[in-house]
Amino acid sequence: MLITAGPTEEPLDAVRFLSNRSSGKMGYALAEAAAARGARVTVVAGPVHLDPPAGVSVIKVRTAEEMRAAVLEHLPEATIVVKAAAVADYRVPAPAAGKIKKGGARLTLELEPTPDILAELGRMKGNRLLVGFAAETGDPIPEARRKLASKGCDMVVGNRVDREGTGFGAEDNEVVLVMRTGEVVALPRASKREVADRIFDRLLKLRHAS
Ligand code: C5P
Repeated sequence: MLITAGPTEEPLDAVRFLSNRSSGKMGYALAEAAAARGARVTVVAGPVHLDPPAGVSVIKVRTAEEMRAAVLEHLPEATIVVKAAAVADYRVPAPAAGKIKKGGARLTLELEPTPDILAELGRMKGNRLLVGFAAETGDPIPEARRKLASKGCDMVVGNRVDREGTGFGAEDNEVVLVMRTGEVVALPRASKREVADRIFDRLLKLRHAS
């Protein structure tokens, strides 16, 4: 199993970057749950401050481009890919080599999209099961449905990131699973480890159904 976790960092200059508040806890909880079920697990993680789960091999990366390279390198060994990472959607095309100096005038940053790793995997997944995440403010179901179709996933885990106590950085999560069968499963709020187990229960059902 190949799992991505955490945010990515996209440099603006030698000392600054664009990122987000993802902690990597959901991805690491998935890795721990999968390893406990006997899976051989590789995690590709952005900058996170977590101890690696026992028995899991962790590859640390920084940018979306580095995450893409590591994921493609390890894809051949994987039969299940779970993309829990909150990959930055935009980056500065050519970050400044030094530190950008402060001036009095406004500064405009021009951003370009990062490579969409999940969409790329969707096009080349073969028999693999592919799980994406949709971190949303507001009802995650419509976006999760859209991502399921547009990125070729078997399941998309929708989670709200605008509520206290769940989502980015939190210990708990409350998610909705949108399946390629059209089924939608709302899981009750629980620890990320518990949520990880419920995600795998559903994923295995889906595998046996296909
Ligand atoms: O489109 P959006 O970023 O909301 O989609 C989230 C899902 O897509 C997550 O599973 C995330 O890991 C993946 N993603 C990706 N590469 C990107 C952006 C998102 O793999 N550049």
